[in-house]
Amino acid sequence: MKILVTGGLGFIGSHVVVELQNEGFEVVIVDNLSNSTLDVLDGITKITGKKPIFEKLDLREKNAVSNLFSTYKDIYGVIHFAASKAVGESVENPLLYYENNLNSLIYILQELQKKDKAHFIFSSSCTVYGQADSLPITESAPIKPAESPYGNTKQIGEEIIKDTCRVSDNLQAIALRYFNPIGSHESLQIGELPTGTPQNLVPFITQTAIGLREKLAVFGNDYPTEDGTCIRDYIHVVDLAKAHVAALKRLIENKSATNFDYFNIGTGTGSSVLEVIKTFEEVSDQKLNYQIVARREGDVIAAYADTEKANNVLGWQAKLSLKDALSSAWQWEQKIRK
Ligand code: UD1
Repeated sequence: MKILVTGGLGFIGSHVVVELQNEGFEVVIVDNLSNSTLDVLDGITKITGKKPIFEKLDLREKNAVSNLFSTYKDIYGVIHFAASKAVGESVENPLLYYENNLNSLIYILQELQKKDKAHFIFSSSCTVYGQADSLPITESAPIKPAESPYGNTKQIGEEIIKDTCRVSDNLQAIALRYFNPIGSHESLQIGELPTGTPQNLVPFITQTAIGLREKLAVFGNDYPTEDGTCIRDYIHVVDLAKAHVAALKRLIENKSATNFDYFNIGTGTGSSVLEVIKTFEEVSDQKLNYQIVARREGDVIAAYADTEKANNVLGWQAKLSLKDALSSAWQWEQKIRK
């Protein structure tokens, strides 16, 4: 079965392509290389022994999307990652985010609407919950006003898919709301490759440990949590990737009573920033240079997933630990800086 993976050379996309190929799916990757390189294609090929089909293409071009679906008429499912994801940049340049993240989604859905049968998985985020009123966060928690245009594109994206599914019996879709993906494939052939200064915690930690950054700024230790730092649900990217295969199989096997559904994808365990640092120090056997600074605007205090729905309905569960994830992130950082 041929599956189109947009943004398939990115951090999460590349790990998903590996899991899909390992499960026997045939993959067509589309990527505009705006935030990735062709080396990732080699990494995927080395791990799986199979080179996926690759098309360099910008999904903001409606005609190009149309041509893609004419070329690959047998695309049976789409996993859609291609999107911009820098929160700060989205505040500075909202139209770039709305154009890139929403137009591409609309053009793909328009093509899928024309098919007899289509399956679609959307890369969403726990950011849709904002600061949830209770923890762990279940899928029925209310959607809070978005803190940034980036976050808004995930909310609007889900709405677009839901409305489209309501009028398209041929289309089955799932939105996966990721918590905080970290780590790298154990082969160290693929991993996270942030451009410029990392905005996320774990790449900043590994770059500090390797000497690329002087020190990590910990954004606030006066939050109402046990040690005062924010709490997140850090999930190993390989576990996250496997959740996509489980979701795709559910769609293909037509198991769902509704044609649009959504799932939290996390471990169910929250870790504070200081706990992440401590665990990193253990796995890397070195002290990390860090300093407590002011809070970062827009940060929620705590977010971790209730994973019951994903466990029971998708039959999927995160298996790898925070230690596993940080250890792989650290090995990856050391490998790419050699
Ligand atoms: C961030 C985005 C979120 C997006 C996600 C994508 C914000 C406010 N949120 O989530 O919308 O979906 O990335 O991966 O940008 N931290 C530090 N120092 C650092 C970096 C982070 O102390 O240099 C802390 C943060 O305050 C937070 C935790 O580490 O408590 C995790 O931060 P991060 O990795 O940026 O993830 P989120 O904030 O959860």
